[in-house]
Amino acid sequence: MRILTGIQPSGTPHLGNYFGAMRQVCDLQAKGESFLFIADYHALTVNPDPEALRRNIVNLALDFIACGVDLDRTLFFRQSAIPQVCELSWILSTYTPMGLLERAHSYKDKLARGFDANAGLFTYPVLMAADILLYRSNLVPVGKDQKQHLEITRDIAIKFNNRFGDVLTIPEGYIPDNVAVVPGTDGQKMSKSYDNIIPIFGSEKEIKGKVMSIVTDCKGLAEPKDPDSCNVFKIYSLVAEPEEVEQMRRNYLGGNYGYGHAKKALFEKLWTKFEGMRARRAELAADIPAVESKLAEHAERAREEAEKTLAVVRAAVGLR
Ligand code: ADP
Ligand code: TRP
Repeated sequence: MRILTGIQPSGTPHLGNYFGAMRQVCDLQAKGESFLFIADYHALTVNPDPEALRRNIVNLALDFIACGVDLDRTLFFRQSAIPQVCELSWILSTYTPMGLLERAHSYKDKLARGFDANAGLFTYPVLMAADILLYRSNLVPVGKDQKQHLEITRDIAIKFNNRFGDVLTIPEGYIPDNVAVVPGTDGQKMSKSYDNIIPIFGSEKEIKGKVMSIVTDCKGLAEPKDPDSCNVFKIYSLVAEPEEVEQMRRNYLGGNYGYGHAKKALFEKLWTKFEGMRARRAELAADIPAVESKLAEHAERAREEAEKTLAVVRAAVGLR
């Protein structure tokens, strides 16, 4: 089984990225052949500052390896190191109905938030389909927000295969329910774009500040509280052991347990959970050229896989 996912180098990685994508990748890498890439072509759709993009790419590589990507098991590379993905994207785009892209939430949401509608933003799902199909992926771990993109990928692949036979591998999404949407400090989906994140590798002060700013209702200390509607509890459930989560549930329901207590417990859990990863990241950051040469070596191997798929696709459509 081949597992693949990509993540955009668009800012500081946060708990949503960790539970929605990074941890899945790390857990799944033992179960099959894994591919992981830094989606730098996708990042261009919001026209970032070039220096910031370069910095984010390197940082993301460090973050992922520190979080447990095993370079002996997983091919880890930059999307743009294999420009063949653009060729596949072009070919697929000619078999993609306009309506499929016009219905994409990501495009509609970005427009609503005032981004310029460049053509890349509109065809973003086709490039994503190319990422997935180029490496003949079976399973794609992502957060719930990417579900529609996976459906678009499947639609494109099925349509292509209907015309040309069994050329493309039809992928499945892997979207575990309990981590589908990690809430941010304001209760919306945690996202770099909403300024509501808790970073994985922030300083103690920064993480504490973010945890303390999580929005709760205004029940007083003595009152019993509802764990299931509380964002502090939701995030705590992701990082604590089941018996600790049960204890916190009892504390909420019993009263005389304030949100300040819960936030303190959450901060402590977060700080210790990521301790080893912070140390590993600092080691990696001391030798960035070594990390970059690993990525280049992995890209070389990914390119061979890409070429195999492209050869079949080119032949199928009549280019060879
Ligand atoms: P952001 O929304 O912060 O820009 P990305 O779109 O770069 O995050 O997402 C990278 C990966 O992390 C994707 O697989 C996405 O589904 C996952 N992800 C992002 N935010 C969350 C969240 N709040 N909960 C669960 N998964 C998330
Ligand atoms: N669109 C994804 C996101 O913003 C990133 C991505 C690009 C991706 N290509 C992919 C994820 C292929 C999974 C598979 O999160």
